Amino acid sequence: MAIVAAQQMIEALDTLFGVHPGCRPVHARGLVLAGEFTASPIAARLTRAAHMQGNPVAVIARFSGSSGYPGWPDYLPDARGLAVSFHLPEGERTDIVAATLPRFPVRKPEDFLSLVRALQPRPALLWRLPWFLLRHPGVLRSLPANALSLARPPASYVSLVYHAIHAFKWITPYGSERHVRYRWVPEQRLTISWRAALCAGAHYLEEELRERLHRGAVRMHLQLQVARPGDPVRDPSAPWPASRDIVTVGTLELRSLADAPAVLSFDPLRLIDGIVASDDPVLRFRQEVYALAANRRQASAKVRSIRAA
Ligand code: HEM
Repeated sequence: MAIVAAQQMIEALDTLFGVHPGCRPVHARGLVLAGEFTASPIAARLTRAAHMQGNPVAVIARFSGSSGYPGWPDYLPDARGLAVSFHLPEGERTDIVAATLPRFPVRKPEDFLSLVRALQPRPALLWRLPWFLLRHPGVLRSLPANALSLARPPASYVSLVYHAIHAFKWITPYGSERHVRYRWVPEQRLTISWRAALCAGAHYLEEELRERLHRGAVRMHLQLQVARPGDPVRDPSAPWPASRDIVTVGTLELRSLADAPAVLSFDPLRLIDGIVASDDPVLRFRQEVYALAANRRQASAKVRSIRAA
């Protein structure tokens, strides 16, 4: 059980970004797409999970900016998100929720709460943030990699690398297991200049993706970084050595905008047989926070529909 209550986390995010009824507390703005995922032959040797057996599996994916303020312009620095839900024929669902920051800045939910509180725009920011950094020097270690991922405006949502950060255990059909971390890598690397991004408008990433879909499907590849014994699996702020094996286990093909349900929500702990979550406290905590945020959106959707009736 998390020491920090999910409610405290939502309140801290609300204070940071404001409350925007009907929106997520973070990743407020996004675009929902539909398509398919097809696993490559090697995936079925690494896990018995149903979506990794090679048959095309229907997916719903949402690209987003991470800000909780829906008006945050795309040309300003921001982590971007890619949440993918795999819909299996028997009604089962499993999700991968990833973002462009390669490393989570802290290792415990309570430290993330302190970070969000330290970032709140008020005069105390001047001492709260340096005080937070003094007490959590690990954040500074993650800074170069994270800052690099924010350094340039992206040309497209589909030209970025998205990291799912946490470790998951993949269990083979024979019962052997290994820890892995996921990342989505783009088929194409594209760049855009600052000037072009500024001129393209506040929400150019959504427009670019809509236009791109008119021209055809977009693709991202799912890669695994495979841990070796001793690699940290409970700490989302600790990278594994770059020398670890990387395996491409499948391709996501997104073909159209999707009619999203009124309340679409993802959950990094929505797993199926063949994949087990690591004992990472941040991962466990996310599930509680996401459920609470989705409930709040559900309630706000109900109020809107009653008012409209
Ligand atoms: C303690 C850590 C974290 C907290 C408290 C947190 C909080 C949240 C909340 C409240 C939402 C909105 C959920 C909803 O309304 O449905 C959200 C969405 C999201 N988060 Fe996190 N998050 C955390 C860590 C992460 C990490 C490590 C990643 C990336 C690996 C991530 C990626 C995303 C993405 C992509 C979404 C948007 C999902 C969608 O499109 O619906 N978050 N997060």
